[in-house]
Amino acid sequence: MAISARTTDRPAAIRQPVRNPYSALPNWLYPSFVVLALGAFAVYAVWVVFFQREGDYAPYLSPFDSPLIKVGSIPPGVWVAWAPFAFRLTCYYYRKAYFRSFFWHPRSCAVPEPGRRRYRGETVFPWVLNNFHRFAFYATVVQVAFLWFDAVVAFDFGGRFGFGLGTGLMVANVILLSGYTFGCHAFRHLAGGELDCFSCSRSARARFQLWRGITVLNIRHDRWAWASLASVLLTDVYIRALIAGALQDPRWIA
Ligand code: FES
Repeated sequence: MAISARTTDRPAAIRQPVRNPYSALPNWLYPSFVVLALGAFAVYAVWVVFFQREGDYAPYLSPFDSPLIKVGSIPPGVWVAWAPFAFRLTCYYYRKAYFRSFFWHPRSCAVPEPGRRRYRGETVFPWVLNNFHRFAFYATVVQVAFLWFDAVVAFDFGGRFGFGLGTGLMVANVILLSGYTFGCHAFRHLAGGELDCFSCSRSARARFQLWRGITVLNIRHDRWAWASLASVLLTDVYIRALIAGALQDPRWIA
């Protein structure tokens, strides 16, 4: 009798809902948010990159179009959007987010796979390409440098120093993008990885300090990821509203 009671109890125990030990929020909320937010951003980005030929409203420039490259009638975003796209697609945080939310594969740590699928990690095409994240980081650093240049130019109103709402958005955007980019796990590994001793030489000590600074950003890498995604969207929407004449830019010029 005791044996039969155990065998009937076990399936019921497996069907118990899995509780997230880190949050009291319902389990469906996070994956739903990820699907909606990333899905909406992806649709907007496709519209901008492939169908919008204008992204500048002097002295402002959309982050989708920086650096500005104009070749015939090809939308300028086509030449540059691949870098941040590859960077976010291969980002360690976003990988966790979209694997769990879009594919439910893997669904989470220590949670049974739906449909008895076997998780193979990122060992097969196309996911094995995620290992190129470090190279996407190099390309994105170059783009972030251009965005800092754009933010400085956004204070130049026809040769006079000034400040508008667009200036504030562009500065906030590049700060958030820098926090996201320079908190990258791959960059942290570049700075402090494969070092056996942090204090044995001047260069090791410099790398240790850099690693510590990157770690400050890296701890909240997910927040930087979402905040910078939102700031890219907001900055671009604002500049396009100016181009369309739907808004007036409040500004002060010396
Ligand atoms: Fe997220 Fe590199 S891990 S940007």
